[in-house]
Amino acid sequence: LDRAMGPKRRKKSSEKLRRGRRPSEGLAFVARDASGTVAGTVRLWDVVLGEGGKAALLLGPLAVDPALKNAGIGSALMRQAVTEAERLGHAAILLVGDAPYY
Ligand SMILES: CC(C)(COP(=O)(O)OP(=O)(O)OC[C@H]1O[C@@H](n2cnc3c(N)ncnc32)[C@H](O)[C@@H]1OP(=O)(O)O)[C@@H](O)C(=O)NCCC(=O)NCCS
Repeated sequence: LDRAMGPKRRKKSSEKLRRGRRPSEGLAFVARDASGTVAGTVRLWDVVLGEGGKAALLLGPLAVDPALKNAGIGSALMRQAVTEAERLGHAAILLVGDAPYY
């Protein structure tokens, strides 16, 4: 994460929401290369929309080792996370960011 996003990543507003918590059960993923080294990661977090509102998942961080960029790892991680969230019965995933980028 530090290599992909830099040291300022801990100051992001979505990072503050995640601090001191664990990702949603079954929704933290890593991609590994053939030797087992971590190549990328994505996690989803349980959140509630407003006070006493509906449950949803917050996305992030999604990151891939810069040395392995543009090989489809980020897309694969994202697809796996969305598929698994749906299978577990989650209805929505939120993200803080640019919709077209995601
Ligand atoms: C963004 C990131 C996760 C993409 O991972 P990746 O493994 O290189 O992504 P993929 O190879 O699966 O490419 C997915 C698509 O995103 C596009 N893409 C990748 N980096 C991009 C960027 N910086 N800006 C715009 N588009 C980008 C690719 O061109 C590709 O598009 P296509 O499917 O139409 O060809 C990775 O570059 C990264 O870790 N970046 C730094 C952290 C970050 O910004 N994370 C997202 C916010 S939490």
